[in-house]
Amino acid sequence: MTEFTQISVSIEAVAEVTINRPKQLNALNSQTLTELDQALDLIENSNEVRVVIIRGSGEKAFVAGADIKEMKDKGAIEATEFSRLGNAVFQRIATLRQPVIAAVNGFALGGGCELALACDIRYASENAVFGQPEVGLGIPPGFGGTQRLARLVGPGYAKELILTARNIKSDEALRIGLVNKVVALEDLDKEVKSVADRIAKQAPIAVESSKALINQGLDLPLEHALELEALSFGSHFATEDQKNGMEAFVNKEKPTFNRK
Ligand code: CAA
Repeated sequence: MTEFTQISVSIEAVAEVTINRPKQLNALNSQTLTELDQALDLIENSNEVRVVIIRGSGEKAFVAGADIKEMKDKGAIEATEFSRLGNAVFQRIATLRQPVIAAVNGFALGGGCELALACDIRYASENAVFGQPEVGLGIPPGFGGTQRLARLVGPGYAKELILTARNIKSDEALRIGLVNKVVALEDLDKEVKSVADRIAKQAPIAVESSKALINQGLDLPLEHALELEALSFGSHFATEDQKNGMEAFVNKEKPTFNRK
Protein backbone atom coordinates (compact mmCIF):
# COMPACT_ATOMS: atom_id res chain seq x y z
CA MET A 1 0.00 0.00 0.00
CA THR A 2 1.39 3.42 -0.97
CA GLU A 3 0.11 6.23 1.23
CA PHE A 4 0.19 9.76 -0.11
CA THR A 5 -1.21 12.51 2.13
CA GLN A 6 -4.75 12.40 0.69
CA ILE A 7 -4.76 9.27 -1.49
CA SER A 8 -3.81 5.68 -0.82
CA VAL A 9 -3.21 3.08 -3.53
CA SER A 10 -2.63 -0.67 -3.40
CA ILE A 11 -0.88 -2.20 -6.40
CA GLU A 12 -2.28 -5.68 -7.00
CA ALA A 13 -4.24 -7.43 -9.79
CA VAL A 14 -7.23 -5.47 -8.47
CA ALA A 15 -5.69 -2.12 -7.50
CA GLU A 16 -7.59 0.06 -5.06
CA VAL A 17 -7.36 3.85 -4.96
CA THR A 18 -8.94 5.55 -1.94
CA ILE A 19 -9.55 9.28 -1.68
CA ASN A 20 -8.71 9.96 1.92
CA ARG A 21 -10.13 13.28 3.20
CA PRO A 22 -13.22 12.00 5.01
CA LYS A 23 -13.63 15.09 7.23
CA GLN A 24 -13.97 17.24 4.09
CA LEU A 25 -16.13 14.56 2.44
CA ASN A 26 -13.15 13.72 0.17
CA ALA A 27 -13.38 17.09 -1.62
CA LEU A 28 -10.71 17.37 -4.32
CA ASN A 29 -8.11 20.10 -3.96
CA SER A 30 -4.99 20.57 -6.12
CA GLN A 31 -2.98 18.28 -3.83
CA THR A 32 -5.57 15.48 -4.06
CA LEU A 33 -5.60 15.73 -7.85
CA THR A 34 -1.78 15.74 -8.04
CA GLU A 35 -1.60 12.67 -5.79
CA LEU A 36 -4.30 10.94 -7.84
CA ASP A 37 -2.11 11.58 -10.89
CA GLN A 38 0.88 10.02 -9.05
CA ALA A 39 -1.24 7.00 -8.10
CA LEU A 40 -2.11 6.60 -11.79
CA ASP A 41 1.64 6.58 -12.61
CA LEU A 42 2.11 3.63 -10.24
CA ILE A 43 -0.84 1.78 -11.79
CA GLU A 44 0.17 2.49 -15.37
CA ASN A 45 3.75 1.34 -14.76
CA SER A 46 2.70 -1.89 -13.05
CA ASN A 47 2.58 -5.17 -14.95
CA GLU A 48 0.44 -6.61 -12.20
CA VAL A 49 -2.65 -4.35 -12.23
CA ARG A 50 -5.56 -5.66 -14.30
CA VAL A 51 -8.37 -3.45 -13.01
CA VAL A 52 -8.72 -0.46 -10.68
CA ILE A 53 -11.33 0.40 -8.06
CA ILE A 54 -11.72 4.04 -6.95
CA ARG A 55 -13.54 4.74 -3.71
CA GLY A 56 -14.00 7.49 -1.12
CA SER A 57 -13.08 6.95 2.53
CA GLY A 58 -15.56 7.25 5.38
CA GLU A 59 -19.25 6.44 5.57
CA LYS A 60 -20.73 9.48 3.94
CA ALA A 61 -19.14 10.45 0.65
CA PHE A 62 -17.49 9.17 -2.49
CA VAL A 63 -16.33 12.73 -3.29
CA ALA A 64 -18.41 15.85 -2.49
CA GLY A 65 -16.85 17.85 -5.32
CA ALA A 66 -13.92 20.09 -6.03
CA ASP A 67 -12.73 21.84 -2.86
CA ILE A 68 -14.87 24.99 -2.67
CA LYS A 69 -12.72 26.45 0.12
CA GLU A 70 -9.61 26.23 -2.06
CA MET A 71 -11.43 27.41 -5.18
CA LYS A 72 -13.37 30.39 -3.93
CA ASP A 73 -10.61 33.03 -4.08
CA LYS A 74 -9.10 31.94 -7.38
CA GLY A 75 -8.87 34.33 -10.31
CA ALA A 76 -9.88 33.42 -13.86
CA ILE A 77 -6.44 32.14 -14.91
CA GLU A 78 -5.89 30.06 -11.77
CA ALA A 79 -9.40 28.61 -12.05
CA THR A 80 -8.80 27.68 -15.70
CA GLU A 81 -5.60 25.89 -14.64
CA PHE A 82 -7.51 24.08 -11.87
CA SER A 83 -10.11 22.91 -14.38
CA ARG A 84 -7.36 21.80 -16.76
CA LEU A 85 -5.66 19.85 -13.95
CA GLY A 86 -8.90 18.05 -13.04
CA ASN A 87 -9.70 17.38 -16.68
CA ALA A 88 -6.20 16.03 -17.37
CA VAL A 89 -6.29 13.64 -14.39
CA PHE A 90 -9.83 12.45 -15.14
CA GLN A 91 -9.00 11.98 -18.82
CA ARG A 92 -6.07 9.82 -17.72
CA ILE A 93 -8.55 7.67 -15.79
CA ALA A 94 -10.92 7.49 -18.75
CA THR A 95 -8.11 6.42 -21.10
CA LEU A 96 -6.06 4.34 -18.63
CA ARG A 97 -5.24 1.00 -20.25
CA GLN A 98 -6.85 -0.88 -17.35
CA PRO A 99 -10.61 -0.63 -16.67
CA VAL A 100 -11.59 1.56 -13.70
CA ILE A 101 -14.62 0.95 -11.49
CA ALA A 102 -16.11 3.65 -9.25
CA ALA A 103 -17.47 2.35 -5.93
CA VAL A 104 -19.83 5.21 -5.04
CA ASN A 105 -20.60 4.92 -1.34
CA GLY A 106 -22.34 8.27 -0.69
CA PHE A 107 -22.25 11.82 -2.06
CA ALA A 108 -20.89 12.05 -5.63
CA LEU A 109 -21.41 15.74 -6.29
CA GLY A 110 -19.77 18.13 -8.74
CA GLY A 111 -16.20 16.91 -9.23
CA GLY A 112 -17.21 13.69 -7.42
CA CYS A 113 -19.90 12.92 -9.99
CA GLU A 114 -17.37 13.87 -12.68
CA LEU A 115 -14.79 11.47 -11.20
CA ALA A 116 -17.37 8.66 -11.31
CA LEU A 117 -18.22 9.63 -14.91
CA ALA A 118 -14.55 9.30 -15.92
CA CYS A 119 -14.56 5.67 -14.69
CA ASP A 120 -15.66 2.82 -16.97
CA ILE A 121 -18.21 1.21 -14.63
CA ARG A 122 -20.13 2.74 -11.72
CA TYR A 123 -21.59 0.73 -8.83
CA ALA A 124 -23.44 2.71 -6.16
CA SER A 125 -24.79 2.07 -2.68
CA GLU A 126 -28.49 2.73 -2.00
CA ASN A 127 -27.60 5.88 -0.03
CA ALA A 128 -25.50 7.39 -2.86
CA VAL A 129 -26.45 10.86 -4.13
CA PHE A 130 -25.39 12.21 -7.52
CA GLY A 131 -25.53 15.75 -8.83
CA GLN A 132 -23.82 18.66 -10.50
CA PRO A 133 -24.56 21.57 -8.11
CA GLU A 134 -22.11 23.98 -9.78
CA VAL A 135 -24.61 26.47 -11.26
CA GLY A 136 -25.78 27.11 -7.70
CA LEU A 137 -22.21 28.22 -6.92
CA GLY A 138 -21.97 30.54 -9.91
CA ILE A 139 -19.93 28.25 -12.16
CA PRO A 140 -20.52 25.48 -14.72
CA PRO A 141 -19.12 21.99 -14.04
CA GLY A 142 -15.35 22.09 -14.61
CA PHE A 143 -13.99 18.53 -14.47
CA GLY A 144 -15.78 17.15 -17.54
CA GLY A 145 -19.41 17.13 -16.36
CA THR A 146 -20.85 19.10 -19.27
CA GLN A 147 -19.30 16.60 -21.68
CA ARG A 148 -19.27 13.17 -20.02
CA LEU A 149 -22.71 13.40 -18.38
CA ALA A 150 -24.31 14.31 -21.74
CA ARG A 151 -22.46 11.47 -23.47
CA LEU A 152 -23.51 8.93 -20.81
CA VAL A 153 -27.17 9.81 -20.10
CA GLY A 154 -27.94 11.96 -23.16
CA PRO A 155 -28.22 15.75 -23.44
CA GLY A 156 -31.80 15.90 -22.10
CA TYR A 157 -31.10 14.44 -18.65
CA ALA A 158 -27.65 16.07 -18.54
CA LYS A 159 -29.13 19.50 -19.14
CA GLU A 160 -31.91 18.95 -16.61
CA LEU A 161 -29.47 17.86 -13.91
CA ILE A 162 -26.82 20.50 -14.60
CA LEU A 163 -29.20 23.44 -15.18
CA THR A 164 -31.36 22.72 -12.12
CA ALA A 165 -28.44 21.68 -9.87
CA ARG A 166 -30.82 18.96 -8.59
CA ASN A 167 -29.29 16.03 -6.73
CA ILE A 168 -30.64 12.57 -7.49
CA LYS A 169 -30.68 9.39 -5.45
CA SER A 170 -29.18 6.14 -6.67
CA ASP A 171 -32.49 4.68 -7.91
CA GLU A 172 -32.93 7.58 -10.34
CA ALA A 173 -29.23 7.40 -11.29
CA LEU A 174 -29.80 3.74 -12.18
CA ARG A 175 -32.93 4.54 -14.19
CA ILE A 176 -31.18 7.13 -16.39
CA GLY A 177 -28.08 4.96 -16.90
CA LEU A 178 -25.73 7.03 -14.75
CA VAL A 179 -24.84 3.92 -12.71
CA ASN A 180 -24.61 0.26 -13.67
CA LYS A 181 -25.88 -1.25 -10.42
CA VAL A 182 -27.20 -0.21 -7.00
CA VAL A 183 -26.59 -2.38 -3.92
CA ALA A 184 -26.93 -2.07 -0.14
CA LEU A 185 -24.03 -0.08 1.37
CA GLU A 186 -22.79 -3.13 3.28
CA ASP A 187 -22.63 -5.12 0.00
CA LEU A 188 -20.89 -2.46 -2.11
CA ASP A 189 -17.27 -3.56 -1.56
CA LYS A 190 -18.14 -7.23 -2.14
CA GLU A 191 -20.12 -6.51 -5.34
CA VAL A 192 -17.45 -4.19 -6.76
CA LYS A 193 -14.69 -6.69 -5.91
CA SER A 194 -16.68 -9.44 -7.61
CA VAL A 195 -16.99 -7.56 -10.92
CA ALA A 196 -13.32 -6.49 -10.65
CA ASP A 197 -12.19 -10.11 -10.04
CA ARG A 198 -14.20 -11.25 -13.03
CA ILE A 199 -12.53 -8.65 -15.29
CA ALA A 200 -9.10 -9.54 -13.82
CA LYS A 201 -9.58 -13.19 -14.91
CA GLN A 202 -10.08 -12.32 -18.60
CA ALA A 203 -7.30 -11.96 -21.16
CA PRO A 204 -5.63 -8.66 -20.20
CA ILE A 205 -4.62 -7.45 -23.65
CA ALA A 206 -8.13 -8.16 -24.97
CA VAL A 207 -9.69 -6.31 -22.00
CA GLU A 208 -7.44 -3.28 -22.56
CA SER A 209 -8.12 -3.26 -26.31
CA SER A 210 -11.87 -3.55 -25.78
CA LYS A 211 -11.90 -0.52 -23.45
CA ALA A 212 -9.82 1.51 -25.92
CA LEU A 213 -11.94 0.45 -28.91
CA ILE A 214 -15.18 1.48 -27.20
CA ASN A 215 -13.68 4.84 -26.16
CA GLN A 216 -12.07 5.63 -29.51
CA GLY A 217 -14.97 4.34 -31.61
CA LEU A 218 -17.47 6.67 -29.95
CA ASP A 219 -15.63 9.65 -31.45
CA LEU A 220 -15.35 8.14 -34.96
CA PRO A 221 -17.71 7.51 -37.87
CA LEU A 222 -18.98 3.90 -37.55
CA GLU A 223 -17.20 2.77 -40.71
CA HIS A 224 -13.80 3.90 -39.36
CA ALA A 225 -14.52 2.50 -35.91
CA LEU A 226 -15.40 -0.91 -37.35
CA GLU A 227 -12.13 -0.97 -39.32
CA LEU A 228 -10.26 -0.07 -36.13
CA GLU A 229 -12.00 -3.02 -34.47
CA ALA A 230 -11.06 -5.38 -37.33
CA LEU A 231 -7.38 -4.36 -37.13
CA SER A 232 -7.32 -4.75 -33.36
CA PHE A 233 -9.15 -8.09 -33.56
CA GLY A 234 -6.57 -9.36 -36.05
CA SER A 235 -3.61 -8.18 -34.01
CA HIS A 236 -4.73 -10.31 -31.05
CA PHE A 237 -4.06 -13.44 -33.11
CA ALA A 238 -0.38 -12.63 -32.68
CA THR A 239 -0.69 -12.92 -28.88
CA GLU A 240 -0.07 -15.92 -26.64
CA ASP A 241 -3.24 -15.04 -24.75
CA GLN A 242 -5.36 -15.71 -27.88
CA LYS A 243 -3.59 -19.05 -28.46
CA ASN A 244 -4.03 -20.06 -24.80
CA GLY A 245 -7.64 -18.86 -24.65
CA MET A 246 -8.82 -20.72 -27.74
CA GLU A 247 -6.69 -23.82 -27.10
CA ALA A 248 -8.13 -24.05 -23.58
CA PHE A 249 -11.68 -23.76 -24.96
CA VAL A 250 -11.13 -26.56 -27.45
CA ASN A 251 -9.54 -28.78 -24.75
CA LYS A 252 -12.30 -27.93 -22.24
CA GLU A 253 -9.73 -26.44 -19.84
CA LYS A 254 -9.40 -23.15 -17.96
CA PRO A 255 -7.15 -20.69 -19.83
CA THR A 256 -4.13 -18.99 -18.30
CA PHE A 257 -3.34 -15.51 -19.53
CA ASN A 258 0.07 -13.85 -19.20
CA ARG A 259 -0.55 -10.54 -20.99
CA LYS A 260 1.68 -11.67 -23.83
N1 CAA B 1 -15.47 21.58 -0.87
C1 CAA B 1 -14.90 21.88 0.33
N2 CAA B 1 -15.37 21.39 1.50
C2 CAA B 1 -16.45 20.59 1.45
C3 CAA B 1 -17.08 20.24 0.25
C4 CAA B 1 -16.54 20.77 -0.96
N3 CAA B 1 -17.03 20.48 -2.18
N4 CAA B 1 -18.13 19.46 0.53
C5 CAA B 1 -18.15 19.28 1.86
N5 CAA B 1 -17.13 19.98 2.43
C6 CAA B 1 -16.79 20.08 3.85
C7 CAA B 1 -17.72 21.02 4.58
O1 CAA B 1 -17.34 22.35 4.37
C8 CAA B 1 -17.56 20.55 6.00
O2 CAA B 1 -16.32 21.03 6.47
P1 CAA B 1 -16.21 21.72 7.94
O3 CAA B 1 -16.55 20.61 8.90
O4 CAA B 1 -14.77 22.13 7.99
O5 CAA B 1 -17.20 22.82 7.94
C9 CAA B 1 -17.41 19.03 5.84
O6 CAA B 1 -17.01 18.83 4.50
C10 CAA B 1 -18.70 18.28 6.08
O7 CAA B 1 -19.68 18.81 5.21
P2 CAA B 1 -21.12 19.34 5.70
O8 CAA B 1 -21.06 19.78 7.12
O9 CAA B 1 -21.62 20.31 4.69
O10 CAA B 1 -21.94 17.97 5.64
P3 CAA B 1 -23.51 17.80 5.41
O11 CAA B 1 -23.81 16.36 5.67
O12 CAA B 1 -24.28 18.81 6.15
O13 CAA B 1 -23.73 18.09 3.84
C11 CAA B 1 -23.21 17.92 1.50
C12 CAA B 1 -23.17 17.23 2.89
C13 CAA B 1 -24.67 18.03 1.03
C14 CAA B 1 -22.44 17.00 0.54
C15 CAA B 1 -22.59 19.32 1.58
O14 CAA B 1 -21.33 19.20 2.20
C16 CAA B 1 -22.39 19.97 0.25
O15 CAA B 1 -23.35 20.46 -0.35
N6 CAA B 1 -21.13 20.03 -0.23
C17 CAA B 1 -20.78 20.74 -1.43
C18 CAA B 1 -21.24 20.00 -2.67
C19 CAA B 1 -20.91 20.80 -3.89
O16 CAA B 1 -21.40 21.88 -4.12
N7 CAA B 1 -20.04 20.23 -4.76
C20 CAA B 1 -19.61 20.85 -5.98
C21 CAA B 1 -18.35 21.62 -5.76
S1 CAA B 1 -17.93 22.62 -7.14
C22 CAA B 1 -17.21 21.55 -8.26
O17 CAA B 1 -17.09 20.37 -8.01
C23 CAA B 1 -16.72 22.19 -9.53
C24 CAA B 1 -16.22 21.27 -10.55
O18 CAA B 1 -16.96 20.71 -11.33
C25 CAA B 1 -14.79 21.11 -10.74
